[in-house]
Amino acid sequence: MKVLVIGGGAREHALCRSLSLDPDVTALHCAPGNAGIAEVAELHPVDALDGTAVARLATELAAELVVVGPEAPLVAGVADAVRDAGVPCFGPSREAAELEGSKAFAKDVMAAANVPTARSYVCTTPQQIDDALDAFGPPYVVKDDGLAAGKGVVVTEDRAAAREHALACGRVVVEEFLDGPEVSLFAITDGETVLPLQPAQDFKRALDNDEGPNTGGMGAYSPLPWADPKLVAEVLDTVLQPTVDELRRRGTPFAGLLYAGLAITGRGVRVIEFNARFGDPETQVVLARLKTPLAAVLLGAANGTLADLPPLAWRDDAAVTVVVASHNYPGTPRTGDPVEGLDEIAAQDAPEAYVLHAGTRLDSGRVVSSGGRVLSVTATGQDLKQARERAYTALGRVRLADSQHRTDIARAAAEG
Ligand code: AMP
Ligand code: GLY
Repeated sequence: MKVLVIGGGAREHALCRSLSLDPDVTALHCAPGNAGIAEVAELHPVDALDGTAVARLATELAAELVVVGPEAPLVAGVADAVRDAGVPCFGPSREAAELEGSKAFAKDVMAAANVPTARSYVCTTPQQIDDALDAFGPPYVVKDDGLAAGKGVVVTEDRAAAREHALACGRVVVEEFLDGPEVSLFAITDGETVLPLQPAQDFKRALDNDEGPNTGGMGAYSPLPWADPKLVAEVLDTVLQPTVDELRRRGTPFAGLLYAGLAITGRGVRVIEFNARFGDPETQVVLARLKTPLAAVLLGAANGTLADLPPLAWRDDAAVTVVVASHNYPGTPRTGDPVEGLDEIAAQDAPEAYVLHAGTRLDSGRVVSSGGRVLSVTATGQDLKQARERAYTALGRVRLADSQHRTDIARAAAEG
């Protein structure tokens, strides 16, 4: 199978790595990719947001499957453009991707499908914002309605700060605070059949002990030894299947990756958010544990034939990933700095630990930083403790001036 992956983050590197290890995959292409993906796929300098250009590339390459990684192209309708060109595509339509593209739309779908989530108000005026903030009280949760790369949500005790963020957003969702550990659960679906993957936990805050601003994600691990073994089955029944059924009922079936961000509260599981694509960095650890070759599963979702596939198989290994970010991330990051030490990881830590590139590019043959999250050091082990030790040992070899990373990814879970 000839596969084209769209995107250029660590999630796409993880997808490309798994696809490159899949005996079914005969050719692997990526647009635009990054310096690390270039080692496993042929790169093409095509704008991921340009559906016409992506569809043309897929046709020229005679791709048999296109996999769209990030949310922005999905919300822009890139998967529709690829399908219109007759190429199977893993990734929801523009309309179905509104599940991520609009928090208000997601709330409406959840209400219709009876999916448990935080109570909320959609606000457009200062008066509505004030009323909603007062209705819930602190801690305040204020979410920009549109896409904001993980940075549109403010959770704060400070009413003035909550109000200021809300006023800056335009259309905004103000909601009830959910207390409890967070879980990311992904499901691959063809719009009807839903295959849940293994749960992971992401670390959203920039600094150790969950301090600092929200980010796209600073690290992740899987499995979750502390979680109820029935969690996946419960979320399939109460969240994933009802949501997929509701979108099909509306005539906008969701085929691709449905990502449920969940809070495990004292009153049960609640959806914090939906995303319409694989999460980053959770994908790095989930795919590290998936034994089933990936291409046939993604193609099954694209073609509507998931029900014909055998159940997914998983390794017993645990996986941990730690993100190395540029100076000043999640603010405007400094870029263009050399990234060194990657060869040492390949020589000394592989195959148990390896680097997945995010914001990197090649500059005269050298890897340099080109974004906020620069790379994600991923490791597997017989348990979280070993995976974590391997990830941090490998990370210790990375040299990037003034970079930042969290030192506590998976620590509490590994220590029980
Ligand atoms: P989201 O972009 O909706 O995932 O929000 C980003 C992060 O904000 C989440 O991962 C949570 O840590 C936090 N958050 C979002 N909604 C809530 C909520 N209702 N209660 C508590 N924390 C929340
Ligand atoms: N890890 C959070 C996200 O992918 O949105």
